[in-house]
Amino acid sequence: MSKPFRTLDDANVAGKRVLLRVDLNVPTENGKVTDKTRIERVASTITEIADKGGKVILLAHFGRPKGGPDEANSLRPVADAVAEVVKRPVGFATDCMGPVAEAAIAKLKNGDILLLENTRFYKGEEKNDAGVVEGLAKLGDLYVNDAFSAAHRAHASTEGVAHKLPAYAGRAMQAELEALTIALGDPQRPVAAIVGGAKVSTKLELLGNLIKKVDVLIIGGGMANTFLFAEGKHVGKSLSEKDMAETARKVMADAKGTNCRIVLPVDATVAKEFKAHAPARVVDVGHVAEDEMILDIGPKSVVAIEEILGQIKTLVWNGPFGAFETPPFEAATFAIAKTVGFLTREGKLKAIAGGGDTVAALNEAGVAGQFTYVSAAGGAFLEWMEGKALPGVEALRAK
Ligand code: 3PG
Ligand code: MG
Repeated sequence: MSKPFRTLDDANVAGKRVLLRVDLNVPTENGKVTDKTRIERVASTITEIADKGGKVILLAHFGRPKGGPDEANSLRPVADAVAEVVKRPVGFATDCMGPVAEAAIAKLKNGDILLLENTRFYKGEEKNDAGVVEGLAKLGDLYVNDAFSAAHRAHASTEGVAHKLPAYAGRAMQAELEALTIALGDPQRPVAAIVGGAKVSTKLELLGNLIKKVDVLIIGGGMANTFLFAEGKHVGKSLSEKDMAETARKVMADAKGTNCRIVLPVDATVAKEFKAHAPARVVDVGHVAEDEMILDIGPKSVVAIEEILGQIKTLVWNGPFGAFETPPFEAATFAIAKTVGFLTREGKLKAIAGGGDTVAALNEAGVAGQFTYVSAAGGAFLEWMEGKALPGVEALRAK
């Protein structure tokens, strides 16, 4: 079988200037990086290219500057964090193209690592403008994209440059794509998806795509309330989108046509106010009082979902079941996460998860390391689950 993407195995980097697009959009506080996960994900690509004698030129965006230099969005502090993770010196250039970048690159020796300033300091970056594409492309001999989490953006540094230089997927990109293929490309069946989170309206395309791909669709979070309401159940003052009831009914009807079983909660943990340790009770759905709101799915629902997990081979998960940041409404999400971790460790399940909230919940539950793969991407993971082509990925496909 031919490889759908060119990877580092296909690249000859020795002595070459390698433009390596990474996602260094990491959280910071007072100029210090507070979570190095995204840096750790790309570390092996950086060191592999350096060890093979390539000159590593890191391209990245940071935050959402308004198309001009701005100190608050400088990547300079991130260079130190990258150096700490790869345990090698990392240089920094105050511009991502033009004479400053060119001079810094001209000084690089084989195996050196240089980070260029925020690509979004140029307006043309996000517009995929030909001038920026040219300016970046002339800095390198080849291009490696290791930024899956920015691959839903058709920007100059994520898409445009890939068409100008020989382009390859880095190791983190490769791992993401392989994991995603396990989950929805050619999954072992039965396959289930868990979709949680607040709103049906933001995940409509996702639900529409999933009912065509998975055998079981488990719905949790605020969006489950909209489905329950659509079935005629009282949801009190729960977060729900009543104007989406018709849409929810259509999703349920369409799922019948595609043989996808939709699983909704049968009970819920409810409270009169949304705050930590608010007095809560468990009720069957349909028995939520007018002044109560659903803040988590209940224990019967957890048991029912765990039973399903015991029967499936592949799981893809985006979105928590309840308000997991606020105790005691983390209970269902954590319990199910632990069960998934256990089944995965036992070799009974392949589990792929992604999205900022989901990953935070799995980390808090202490089980992220037990999953088959946890994506570092938020928006890109969601767009991929929606069945959309990601421009940054498409540009890497072997021609
Ligand atoms: C992310 O943090 O999700 C990616 O780096 C993309 O950033 P963006 O949403 O600002 O394009
Ligand atoms: Mg984002």
